[in-house]
Amino acid sequence: MPNQTLLQLLTARVQDALAAAGCADAPAIVQPAGRPEHGDYQANGVMAAAKARKLNPRALAQTVVEHLQLDGIVSRVEIAGPGFINMTIAPDFLAQWMGRALDDSHLAVPRVSGDGVQCVVIDYSSPNLAKEMHVGHLRSTVIGDALARVLRFVGHRVIAQNHVGDWGTQFGMLTASMDDAVGETAAEETAVMALADLEDFYRQAKKRFDEDPAFANRARDYVVKLQGGDARVQALWQRFLDISMQHCEEIYRKLGVGLTLADVHGESAYNDDLPVVVADLETQGLAVTSDGAKVVFLDEFASKDGTPAAYIVQKQDGGYLYATTDLAALRYRSGTLKGDRLLYVVDARQKLHFQQLFALGRKAGYVPSRMQLEHIGFGVVLGDDGKPFKTRSGDTVKLAELLAEATQRAYDLVTAKNPELPEAERREVAQVVGIGAIKYFDLAKNRSTDYVFDWASMLSFEGNTAPYLQYAYTRIQSVLRRAGDWDQRSAVSLAEPAERDLALQLARFADAVLAVAQDALPNYLCAYLYELAAALMRFYEACPVLNASGEVRSSRLQLCRLTAQTLRTGLGLLGIDVLETM
Ligand code: ARG
Repeated sequence: MPNQTLLQLLTARVQDALAAAGCADAPAIVQPAGRPEHGDYQANGVMAAAKARKLNPRALAQTVVEHLQLDGIVSRVEIAGPGFINMTIAPDFLAQWMGRALDDSHLAVPRVSGDGVQCVVIDYSSPNLAKEMHVGHLRSTVIGDALARVLRFVGHRVIAQNHVGDWGTQFGMLTASMDDAVGETAAEETAVMALADLEDFYRQAKKRFDEDPAFANRARDYVVKLQGGDARVQALWQRFLDISMQHCEEIYRKLGVGLTLADVHGESAYNDDLPVVVADLETQGLAVTSDGAKVVFLDEFASKDGTPAAYIVQKQDGGYLYATTDLAALRYRSGTLKGDRLLYVVDARQKLHFQQLFALGRKAGYVPSRMQLEHIGFGVVLGDDGKPFKTRSGDTVKLAELLAEATQRAYDLVTAKNPELPEAERREVAQVVGIGAIKYFDLAKNRSTDYVFDWASMLSFEGNTAPYLQYAYTRIQSVLRRAGDWDQRSAVSLAEPAERDLALQLARFADAVLAVAQDALPNYLCAYLYELAAALMRFYEACPVLNASGEVRSSRLQLCRLTAQTLRTGLGLLGIDVLETM
């Protein structure tokens, strides 16, 4: 069998037929059919091809179908409407496909090879280390992690970049406060204790900064010292970062996100490069001095009255900005990391910043033209009131507290559902279900939209949720356990419509995964898994498994086994675990 997905196979065959009909340059455009009466897949390319050539579209469709080589692949081909070609996959072909997927630890998902392998650099999570991670960092962390997993699975080389905010004027006030709290000789525990509540520490430092001019002056002095390389202030800063980073690592561990210290490449890593970048932009004639600041004027982002957008790379006081650091980072990811595709999983509100960054990066020659630059924007997590999610007292919601609440709520749910399960097991189930629920609820939404954070929906065992899919998985596992001994090399045969539908859905796994890799939209995979679980439920209803006998029984067990593997692998690609029992 070719190293292709089902959709790629059909597309290639329709493309060949179009070529044979004299329309080699017309795209075939094959898609899963939207309705059962349209078969399983529909080719839509004939109409445009006919129009461009002033041919009758139905007549052209007829010619294409005559050239279509789909023997053994489809059971039915039909021309519909103005020239759609509807195709229904043959049960025997699907049955063979099942056998192939069952034999393959990669579940028949093709791996890229040779020139197809890209180095994908993904900027994700990237919290500001001055404060504790809050709900605003959930999406970047979870979406970025899912994309990293999917791209690696498909065969790309992924380099994670945690572009943490570890530089800037706030660190003056924070290191000055730290100095007061722990002093020079203070033991490590004292520092850890002082920063146990990072949010609180930040708030108090800020309050002092705003209210006490002497402290504000000291804070400013600490900034200068920090930037000037003063060993003591740098040591305080480093200690602050270490502790703040430990908070992040704790969150990553709880979330099951693979980021490690090795992936951290924060803003401060680019400090030495910032003057170099600004000087280079000046030499190239891109940056000019305007009101004492160094600015690149971008005509392509001009306002309505024709004023070009100003991309400031150095302030009047000589300080550098977020935008300067991002230019240096872009150059590093391109020149040093040799990325072919750079993804920035960052709040959609930074859209303009990234548009300008990418435009300037190309202009300045920091990225070759073939390199893909993508801002993977996402919407805001909202509360019931439709405003950004806050605690009842109006504070930002700490991620650590949110995760703890998820686990607690899941624990109460499991305890109500299954009180006789031993305590330790209930704790474990709660962990997997609670964390899975939060992550899946986020990933299942199209990332570009805002969503309302809603405990009841995300923890529901019905609908497109993690608990529903995790439960579908445990249900199959229980069937497989009860099946006793059977031959796991048995052939699959598909006689019942519900069997065929489940098999078709299983065969579509590879296309769902590749679509996520291409468009960086994890919700495609969620929608796929939800449909798979629905197909499984219809199959259970229509087709007895354990009470069937002979080859029918083993074939159905094989379908169950592949469905379980696909659910586990698919959820795994989203960073979500499954359980054998729950
Ligand atoms: N630290 C920034 C924030 O919290 C996000 C950084 C995103 N990455 C980047 N290269 N700009 O908003």
